Amino acid sequence: MAELKDIGVAVLGFGTVGGGVVKTLAEKEALLLERLGLRLVLRGVADLDVESDRGVSVDRSLLTTDARALIEREDVDVVAELIGGTGAARELVLHALKLGKPVVTANKKLLAEHGPELHKVAAQYGAELLFEASVGGGIPIIKALREGLVANQINSMYGILNGTCNYILTRMEEEGLSFDEVLAAAQAAGYAEAEPSLDIDGHDTAHKAAVLAALAYGGSVPLDNIQVTGIRGMAAADITYAAKMGYRIKLLAIIRNCAEGVEVSVQPTLVERRHPLATVLGVYNAVLVHGDVVGTTLYYGRGAGRMATASAVVADLADAALNLRAGGHRRDLSAVPERAPVVFREPGGIVARHYVRFSMKDRPGTLAKVAAVLGAHGIGIDSVMQQEGPENAEYVPVLFVTSQASERAMAEALAEIEGLEDVIDQKPVRYRIENSA
Ligand code: HSE
Repeated sequence: MAELKDIGVAVLGFGTVGGGVVKTLAEKEALLLERLGLRLVLRGVADLDVESDRGVSVDRSLLTTDARALIEREDVDVVAELIGGTGAARELVLHALKLGKPVVTANKKLLAEHGPELHKVAAQYGAELLFEASVGGGIPIIKALREGLVANQINSMYGILNGTCNYILTRMEEEGLSFDEVLAAAQAAGYAEAEPSLDIDGHDTAHKAAVLAALAYGGSVPLDNIQVTGIRGMAAADITYAAKMGYRIKLLAIIRNCAEGVEVSVQPTLVERRHPLATVLGVYNAVLVHGDVVGTTLYYGRGAGRMATASAVVADLADAALNLRAGGHRRDLSAVPERAPVVFREPGGIVARHYVRFSMKDRPGTLAKVAAVLGAHGIGIDSVMQQEGPENAEYVPVLFVTSQASERAMAEALAEIEGLEDVIDQKPVRYRIENSA
């Protein structure tokens, strides 16, 4: 077989990440040639808007609005989908795969919602689907799971996977600011989207958790099976109380292989301050992976941003190019879904310790009523701390730390407590606690 020296690349989407990929391909051409022994040559960039300045120098003749025609060109060997969403992106990815062309994508939503379909088509047409940039931005977590940890059964993964949320939580704790104040500042600084719900309601983290879980266990995780709680409206008081108790609150994706099945959840979680994930601050992401052979491993870096994400996309382009030259796929994921179907645990069965804050009527006997309901649902209490409220306040904050209890038991008990007369005046706040590193 003739040795391929030039690999033609099509970039679909000239936004933040697309611009970063175009810039990296230009700036790193010589380095990549030296390392790979082949040249990644940009054949074209497709976007509906080819007029706006993206702050990246590119030969205007490479810009096109016709993504399909670009994909179909004979001198395009690999396609990078950096459009986002599940409309045009899905159609164009399928189109490229059906032409047998490898596709590199950063699109976690597309993978979380249509992963099985895309992997099936990729296998059917003998094309690779690579998605390093979809989780953890520049952190090579996909490569670590697929290659570095290939000999391991993954016992668990704990991830801080959304930079926006981690930035908000960090500033709330460090500066004692409210959620709304930090969100507004983050939006003004361009760290948070103008429409932030995908990030702050936890869905972006859930998409990434679904990608990681599918990679580690095969099959696909129905998004409905992921219990998702975001950080919207988190009270600064809970961050302060958690700190007093020796914890920091993080939005964690938790993926665990339990006897009852694989559990996947996204929720604000109290982690001990000496836990490795407690030290991940600002926009940084991290994933703690426990493999049965290797033990504990930690991956850390920038989870978003033009150049961090471009680093991951170009790594996938390089892999796709090397695989094309080798005439095959070094890493064929299509074998994974063929395994025995994975059981994903229903969210109600997930068991953990919990932090609960009640705004409780300051009157003898109230605490006993709450404790009685928890006890009736089989929920043990590890500690109770009443906090000072305003002087002469009718209701005061009371913090409970529970022993291990299921989501279902906690939800039922708290609903019952909310229904008690004259006991609490606000919805209880409940977060998970994770101690083990
Ligand atoms: N909006 C995401 C974040 C990056 O804040 O981490 C893209 O997934």
